[in-house]
Amino acid sequence: MGSAARLPSFVMVTGMTNRSEHLAEADDRWRQGVVVRGARQNNLADVDLDVPRDRLVVFTGVSGSGKSSLAFGTLFAESQRRYLESVAPYARRLIDQVGVPDVDVVEGLPPAVALQQHRGIGNARSNVASVTTLGSLVRMLYSRAGSYPNDQPMLYAEDFSPNTVQGACPTCHGIGRVYEVDVDKMVPDPTLSIRERAIASWPPGWPGGNLRDILVSLGYDVDSPWKKLPKKHRDWILFTEDRPTVPVYSGFTPAQTRRAIKAGTEPSYEGNFVGARRFVLDTFANTKSSIVKKRVSEFVTSEVCPMCQGKRVKAESLSVTFEGLDIAEFASLPLARLAEIARTVVSSDWLPEAAGEALDETRRAEATRRRVASGGSAHTAAPDVRRTPNVSAEKQVAARRLLDDLLERIQPIIDLGLGYLSLDRTTPTLSGGELQRLRLATQLSSKLFGVATSSTNLRRDCTPAT
Ligand SMILES: Nc1ncnc2c1ncn2[C@@H]1O[C@H](COP(=O)(O)OP(=O)(O)OP(=O)(O)O)[C@@H](O)[C@H]1O
Ligand SMILES: [Mg+2]
Ligand SMILES: [Zn+2]
Repeated sequence: MGSAARLPSFVMVTGMTNRSEHLAEADDRWRQGVVVRGARQNNLADVDLDVPRDRLVVFTGVSGSGKSSLAFGTLFAESQRRYLESVAPYARRLIDQVGVPDVDVVEGLPPAVALQQHRGIGNARSNVASVTTLGSLVRMLYSRAGSYPNDQPMLYAEDFSPNTVQGACPTCHGIGRVYEVDVDKMVPDPTLSIRERAIASWPPGWPGGNLRDILVSLGYDVDSPWKKLPKKHRDWILFTEDRPTVPVYSGFTPAQTRRAIKAGTEPSYEGNFVGARRFVLDTFANTKSSIVKKRVSEFVTSEVCPMCQGKRVKAESLSVTFEGLDIAEFASLPLARLAEIARTVVSSDWLPEAAGEALDETRRAEATRRRVASGGSAHTAAPDVRRTPNVSAEKQVAARRLLDDLLERIQPIIDLGLGYLSLDRTTPTLSGGELQRLRLATQLSSKLFGVATSSTNLRRDCTPAT
């Protein structure tokens, strides 16, 4: 990516990268138009250009050259960023921000409106592997033809998927990142009492008041400053995993509540408490509302999963290799490189690199029992691949057959100019044309001849900005 051959045709590259030089020069030119210096969004390689104002300007270039990265990722993103600086923080949260562009200088920008081509698929679990359906073939390859550590029972294809219960890393549930709460953000001002909303991460309105009333019923002090509460109380309120159901007396003072509980007075209702951390993490993981998600995400920090190192599948699956690569490493290689590996294996007297032995009857039965106990399928109707030893004729035959298939399906993708993509590239990061070409290649190799393919933007050499 970023090679000269794939740069958009409108770009004027001056090779200047010095920021102060940029600023001085940009200063007297911005009046005539929009000045961009050192744009590096996605594959843009330090691009400099001047865009005239009050003109219809068209960016053209081959698909994947960076037109959208420049128009949306840089110009629009920068314009939005500046506009948002002038907006109240609360309103800012409601706007879907496109992010801060990687660029040295943008000057002379008018307020911007973006009309972006809508993309059907936009979830984090959709990637090149799933769009092309190559993912299932690769999982089959690792299941049937991978090299297993000596003591490791053979695994089924679904064990290699981060999107199944059997395959997902148990720590991050197949996401590759783990999320924690940021306590300083949950309680930004410890001089406030709970009644004064010391716990900023609580939901606004009635649900927040409900949590406060439950704490009153439980005997917690909601009127002293947060920092004056005993640490044990603060920790329970923030971190408890208990979800007690508690009688709530709406509108009662703490003293009245105490008396009502003692007297056994009928409560207004039974309320369910949830710890502040649990509330944030559960809402973050489960909410369908992007506004709510954005609100709680302010209290969340994330890091690469320490268990799988971001590889998303369980350790047993990562212990299986093919040509020395675990499945995540395999999926991170460019498709052109995968084709090379496949060709080598198919054309030579290939042997799996590590030797092992077939499982005996008892160990197979034990492995099946464990899998069923953890919610998996017994696969009683399927041929038992775990009978197959690492070095076996069957395994080599399986590898050849699967890689033949893989090659046949990767080749059209490479022919459409996408050999630089990897299987793990997520769909939202693909350019408009890249996604269309991937779908086209998938159609081609599914051999559905006679299907009328209707599309714009299919030519590799020139596509409109999408
Ligand atoms: N978030 C991202 N992460 C990684 N790479 C990205 C991301 N977004 C875009 N890219 C890559 O940057 C390159 C330029 O993408 P861009 O969308 O700007 O291309 P384009 O010129 O608009 O192409 P098209 O005509 O196909 O729409 C592509 O190879 C794309 O895969
Ligand atoms: Mg585009
Ligand atoms: Zn993990």
